[in-house]
Amino acid sequence: MSRIIHLSGEYLPSNEARIDVDDRGFLFGDGVYEAMRALDGTLIEGDAHLLRLQRGLAGLEFQLHPAVDSAALSSTCLRLLELNDLKEGHALVYLQVTRGVAQRSHHFPNDPVQPTVYASTTRFTPPRELQENGAAAITQQDQRWKRCDLKTINLLPNVLAKQHAREAGAIEAILLRDRVVTEGSHTNVFAVLGGVVRTHPRTAEILHGVTREVVLSLAGAAGLPVEERAIDALELPLAEEVFLTGTTTDLIPITRIDGRQVGSGRPGPFARMLLERYLALMRDAAPFPQVLVRSR
Ligand SMILES: Cc1ncc(COP(=O)(O)O)c(C=O)c1O
Repeated sequence: MSRIIHLSGEYLPSNEARIDVDDRGFLFGDGVYEAMRALDGTLIEGDAHLLRLQRGLAGLEFQLHPAVDSAALSSTCLRLLELNDLKEGHALVYLQVTRGVAQRSHHFPNDPVQPTVYASTTRFTPPRELQENGAAAITQQDQRWKRCDLKTINLLPNVLAKQHAREAGAIEAILLRDRVVTEGSHTNVFAVLGGVVRTHPRTAEILHGVTREVVLSLAGAAGLPVEERAIDALELPLAEEVFLTGTTTDLIPITRIDGRQVGSGRPGPFARMLLERYLALMRDAAPFPQVLVRSR
């Protein structure tokens, strides 16, 4: 049976959904998205994801519209979990908003149009093996624009980076702006250097990951020294540990970068401890520590 998706106010089988060829998401990539985890029918950090979506809409200068109200979007996601029988276990919720349908022209439509809202859900299997044993990554230049804090559907540099990682037998491409480690193609990057947990600060060069925030607060609560300071590519070979965070990643230790061993070559103690605490939070299905996507 085809899964049920949501498209601009309607719930329907995915194979019956039709996107207008004049949709600005299709023509220009003019939109934003979120990928959220759900456990037993509860959205994990749903508020933080929806807040980031609202910031993205404002960043792309979308007009306010009731169709993209956070409460409405949240109930759409929960309804989809129900309709697809995903109220138990792990699921992934995808939510996308585009500027809507208008005759093609680069500038915004002259008359206000209704944004297109698309949401879907799928069952999700957490990457436990990678979390336990670690994985390989490559480095490559970050070819993206200057507003990586906006989670837009323009993902070509990320797509290419991830493909290159895959071809190299790695799970992720760690992106470098010149020599600065920004983030991964779909993850945030952490390193442990001299006993300090470091990650890129919250600037426009990175996506302000929801998981990143939770892991930073877990590290702080565990009494680990934490610093939001960019990592230089030359520091990577010196790192005791490197790990990635993200909605579909949770936390995955990186044990090889560009074929070179990281630290002991096994997941390190900080990564293991933070992963354990992160998974415990999710298992409790209790709301995570309040993660406020701080204003820039
Ligand atoms: C470029 C990029 N960085 C980081 C992340 C991790 O963010 P989050 O933890 O909110 O999933 C993502 C998630 O898709 C991403 O696309």
